[in-house]
Amino acid sequence: MTKADQTIGIVGGTGMLGKAIAVALLDRQVVASNCLWISNRSGAADVFANHPGVNVTTSNQELADRCDVILLSVPPTSASGIGMDASGKLVLSVMAGIPLADLLRITCANRVIRAMSSPAAQISLAYSPWCATADVTDDDRALVSTIFTACGLTDEVESEAHIECFTAMTGPVPGFVAFYAKAMVDYAVNHGIQPEIADRAIRQLFLGAGAMMSDGEMTPADHVKQMIDYAGTTADGLEAMKHSSITADIADALDAAVARTRVIG
Ligand SMILES: NC(=O)c1ccc[n+]([C@@H]2O[C@H](COP(=O)([O-])OP(=O)(O)OC[C@H]3O[C@@H](n4cnc5c(N)ncnc54)[C@H](OP(=O)(O)O)[C@@H]3O)[C@@H](O)[C@H]2O)c1
Repeated sequence: MTKADQTIGIVGGTGMLGKAIAVALLDRQVVASNCLWISNRSGAADVFANHPGVNVTTSNQELADRCDVILLSVPPTSASGIGMDASGKLVLSVMAGIPLADLLRITCANRVIRAMSSPAAQISLAYSPWCATADVTDDDRALVSTIFTACGLTDEVESEAHIECFTAMTGPVPGFVAFYAKAMVDYAVNHGIQPEIADRAIRQLFLGAGAMMSDGEMTPADHVKQMIDYAGTTADGLEAMKHSSITADIADALDAAVARTRVIG
């Protein structure tokens, strides 16, 4: 929990990701609605109709002045136009491709966190890795962990390069996983299965697979090995995959997404 009167502000808090994080913080009672500030350019705040008391402003500087913790969630191309002096505040960013050095310059803060998250935060299923500038304190780290734990799972990682990898891998939800699911739906449809049945079956497969892989001690690699050792029908398919270029092709696709992360801001 944050301290009772600690204020949190989300710049871009009505966007897809900012709103998801705001709702997670409210639902998990990390912040009371009257201690949450949202800023955007339009002043629109319909998405908080069910959360009376949330403060909304079109002034990013007012938000910075009112809040102890400021989370930046505007499009990367808007980052340099945020226009705020957040000196002395703890600043977190979930913006893709904006390095710590730029965040320091844009906000005038020195306690800055570069993070990644995803809209799955709204159902507390995001993965939110982060790294910090040297001035970030232990108390700040505890607070960052509280905020991102409300959104799902979180880790402090070693470097911004690791944030770039996760921007490609876990920022987009369902992202690349949806591509794999679509390939399976297409396979079913190409074998004469009704599209709606194929769709329902594969959605359920990914729900079950996700639940089984997230629970317990077994890693994804353990699951693959278990299936191969079981030597059923899936083993032949997995062996075919292991001897194909699919692993390298996935790495190439992720490389392309990481490369975009380095230029998107
Ligand atoms: N969506 C995702 O799946 C996802 C995943 C990982 C990371 N991210 C990162 O999260 C950030 C936000 O993405 P999003 O998808 O949530 O974007 P979005 O849906 O387009 O929302 C952008 C938000 O920022 C506000 N905004 C834009 N410029 C602003 C400014 N100068 N000052 C204050 N508010 C401003 C917008 O409101 P107004 O138009 O009213 O100003 C809106 O609330 C991006 O940096 C993105 O890289 C997104």
